[in-house]
Amino acid sequence: MPILSDASATPDRTIPSLAGLPRVVPPHRVPPERELPLAAYLRSIRDNALEGFPRRAFEEPVTRRGLLGRSSFVLNDPEAIRRVLVENQANYARTTGTTRILRPILGDGLLISEGSAWRHQRRTLAPAFTPRAIDGLVPHIAAAVTAGMERIATEAAAGPVDLFTSFYRLALEIAGRAMFSVGMDEHGTELRQFIAEYAERMGRPHLLDIVIPPGWPVPLDWARGRFRRRWIPFLDRIIAARREAERTEAHSGDLLDLLAAARNPDTGAAFTADELRDQVATMILAGHETTAGTLFWAAYLLALAPEMQERVAAEAQAADLTDPTGCQSDGRLPLTRAVIDETLRLYPAAFVVVRRALGPDTVAGHAVKASDIVMVSPWVLHRHRMLWPDPDAFDPGRFLPGASAPRRFAYLPFGAGPRVCIGAQFALSEAVMSLACVLKRFRLVLDEQEPVLPQAVVTTQPDRPARFRLIPREPVSP
Ligand code: HEM
Repeated sequence: MPILSDASATPDRTIPSLAGLPRVVPPHRVPPERELPLAAYLRSIRDNALEGFPRRAFEEPVTRRGLLGRSSFVLNDPEAIRRVLVENQANYARTTGTTRILRPILGDGLLISEGSAWRHQRRTLAPAFTPRAIDGLVPHIAAAVTAGMERIATEAAAGPVDLFTSFYRLALEIAGRAMFSVGMDEHGTELRQFIAEYAERMGRPHLLDIVIPPGWPVPLDWARGRFRRRWIPFLDRIIAARREAERTEAHSGDLLDLLAAARNPDTGAAFTADELRDQVATMILAGHETTAGTLFWAAYLLALAPEMQERVAAEAQAADLTDPTGCQSDGRLPLTRAVIDETLRLYPAAFVVVRRALGPDTVAGHAVKASDIVMVSPWVLHRHRMLWPDPDAFDPGRFLPGASAPRRFAYLPFGAGPRVCIGAQFALSEAVMSLACVLKRFRLVLDEQEPVLPQAVVTTQPDRPARFRLIPREPVSP
């Protein structure tokens, strides 16, 4: 596929503080002119789902293709999206493939549970994810960011750094510390190996995962089952180590405490040990690769836009980051936050939200039948020609205070409706804080000749390791 990129056109900005900065269009593959044939489409789902969306998906409000006897819709009409994710959401469930692939690693945690089991979990977990509760976790996040920065500084001193790997470790460290109040030194390597092993083969959707009805085994299910039999004892070991540490060391409240203390508001019931473990797996898995990718793409965009990078660095250098509480919510770092928002527009970590219709519905005039697939793809939606001016250009000004808000249901990096991301506040806190800390300390220069392109399997990642030179900045007080 041809690659589009442009960093030379004249600026046209409505936000005065960014006026005069060059317009940057990060490179991306031009979408295919036509629907891919079925075999190529299924291959794209396995290898890079972004390549499965044809040009007209970026231009039309609703597109439809046939998929093994069913219809598969891509919705970009805000009203249609509202219908599926909010108004009639009870008619739309996780797909068989999603559940089949994720259950062995996530168990019956919040992300894949359905119906009354989901409602019970969501209500029980909600108090642990309020902005106030997240502010309580900020010291853990800050400790992990500080430790992570030292590691990144050591790596940078030795030469160019593969930033996705560095941010991946950082996000895992943050998830570990916020959840268990302990560094990931002891368990981090094994955890990364488990996740990499699963993602490499068992976590990729294959044809049989999609077509075989639930309850019927497919060959990969055996491998997934074997994986789960090793994975559960590993998670139990981490939780037991944390419980042990709690008895012997000073300990300030973390997410595990919040989850263990959580009670269903209707019944007063707490999570059982198995349920607690599944929530822990869900929060670690849902929360680290998504944020790592977001940080990587923010760094990439700012390396392509050095003048913008200097503005963000100046903001971070002027801010007091020694008290990170409320760092992203109290308006202290508006440009850093706008860069994260714009990064989530151009490279949404969760590139698609997929649902299976349980019964018939009418969506934007299209008849949806039971078992049809309905997709809302933030990757497509956020670059849609009808919804965004200059959709492929990197312009954080769209999200600065004073800019007009995006149209409702046109910007959905965290989804929408009852199943909206429960960790959104947590993710934004850690992303804003981490990006500010990196830029306060380093100038980021891309050390690659070829464009780095997005590749979406579970999340939107760089298509290969991309190296950056991290050039130390003059220190400023504090
Ligand atoms: C940049 C980071 C993140 C992005 C882009 C993101 C995106 C999303 C999206 C789009 C959904 C909705 C999926 C759907 O409707 O099918 C979702 C759900 C979810 N996210 Fe996130 N997420 C991020 C970080 C996190 C973090 C840090 C956590 C946990 C601490 C988390 C935990 C979850 C959970 C548990 C769900 C399922 C909610 C439910 O079904 O009720 N996410 N996320």
